[in-house]
Amino acid sequence: MSHEDRTPICLLAIDDDPRTLPLVSAALGQDGLDLINTTDPLLALKLIAERRPQFVVLDPALGEMRGVDLLEKVVELDPGVDVVIVSSQPWSQCAVHAIQKGACDYFTKPLDIERFRARIRELVEEVKQRQRALAVDMELITAFQFQGIVGRSAAMLEVFSRIRRIAPHFRSLLITGATGTGKELVAKAVHQLSPAPKSRFVAYNCAAIVDTLIESELFGAVKGAFTGATQDKVGAFEYASGGVLFLDEIGDMPLGTQAKLLRVLQQQEIQRVGSPVSRKIDVRVIAATHCDLKKMVGHRQFREDLYYRLSMIQISIPPLAERKEDLPLLQRIFLQRYSRQYGKQIRGLTRRAQVALAKYCWPGNVRELENTLGHACMMAEGGVIDLRDLPPHLLHPSAANSEEEPMVSLKEAQFQHVKRVVEALGGNKIKAAQVLGISRATLYRYLELHGPYSHAVATQPVGAPATNDNSSQA
Ligand SMILES: Nc1ncnc2c1ncn2[C@@H]1O[C@H](COP(=O)(O)OP(=O)(O)O)[C@@H](O)[C@H]1O
Ligand SMILES: [Mg+2]
Repeated sequence: MSHEDRTPICLLAIDDDPRTLPLVSAALGQDGLDLINTTDPLLALKLIAERRPQFVVLDPALGEMRGVDLLEKVVELDPGVDVVIVSSQPWSQCAVHAIQKGACDYFTKPLDIERFRARIRELVEEVKQRQRALAVDMELITAFQFQGIVGRSAAMLEVFSRIRRIAPHFRSLLITGATGTGKELVAKAVHQLSPAPKSRFVAYNCAAIVDTLIESELFGAVKGAFTGATQDKVGAFEYASGGVLFLDEIGDMPLGTQAKLLRVLQQQEIQRVGSPVSRKIDVRVIAATHCDLKKMVGHRQFREDLYYRLSMIQISIPPLAERKEDLPLLQRIFLQRYSRQYGKQIRGLTRRAQVALAKYCWPGNVRELENTLGHACMMAEGGVIDLRDLPPHLLHPSAANSEEEPMVSLKEAQFQHVKRVVEALGGNKIKAAQVLGISRATLYRYLELHGPYSHAVATQPVGAPATNDNSSQA
């Protein structure tokens, strides 16, 4: 897929001296550039917004609107544009100033046509190079995309290879990785490559339901099994019959239920709550967690026998910070997705925005990257995403290390951090729990114990309806 031939290269010349414009046209006309020009600065801004030229040639001695002001406006409108200044002032402080403000070169009048032309050709070559790089990116995305999972790092290629080998044969599988690393995406890929890709994929979040209901939800219940069970209920295992049951946040499953799950995995049969009858089932189980189950076994928070059963076949996904080679491709795919969604033509990120993304530590992993770029696409006004379109915490990530910070205990620092995340996400505890890498239930418990959200928490129904993890994609 080549973008090269489709995007013509366009140059806008702005000069209030009408004699300069034909000169520019004569110099550049034959080079296959799409030339537009105007003597009116306001019209110029309109043309930039509409035509999205890659180059602007600008005389800063413009009448009403001072040239440097116009330069600033141009760069603000489209941070990706290359601005060349053509001025009647000799090279001076003014030129330095213009370059600081974002111009990429400075020529004085009378124009040295040959040198000017050579420079523009050079810049055109750079733009073409960028377009080619974009086209290569697109090819890479296709090449390094596996069942909708993007990655080219050695670690992700290993994940792809494991998915391919495990999917045809597994009965149970454990997927581990921090929040937002793509566990559910991997589970779906495994289902797609399983012998029954058309069967059901039933996702069940063990952290999103109160402990007393979890067994009837999973295994079903007969009428009268408990107060409120007014009719027979089909559980998730039966519902997923022939397909895959995805047990998300398995680390939050109560110990009693864990014992029953182990039995189900071993016998391939279930008993509805309140019934002695065993029913045969045919379900592949994929469990996922961000927790260190082995450590939980050590603390008696997770059953050892279930852990060994589940971890026999395992796929672990490393955090994004450990595979930054994947960043450019992921960025590209999310830009594409969200610029389409918002009906914008976003070509890419400015160099400094790319640097900011590369430096950041991504505690919320790919989900956080996706949300960040979705937000940036929404904010972007030009055809390029710049620093101002990124959330502020990305630009000053290490404020916590600053020396003015008072020295506090680990416990206090933890509380401050939790508070900061919850507040930064506007009180959305589902998202906050994802960013913090803990389950929603754990976050609720923490806040209940530590306040100051205890009031807000108390008014929330505990064990509110299961909320799908994917809500953050909206
Ligand atoms: N490698 C990847 N390529 C493309 N999208 C990804 C990748 N990893 C994660 N995502 C996206 O990030 C978001 C979070 O992924 P998800 O599978 O829900 O993470 P987890 O279950 O580990 O918290 C989803 O929108 C998913 O599509
Ligand atoms: Mg998830």
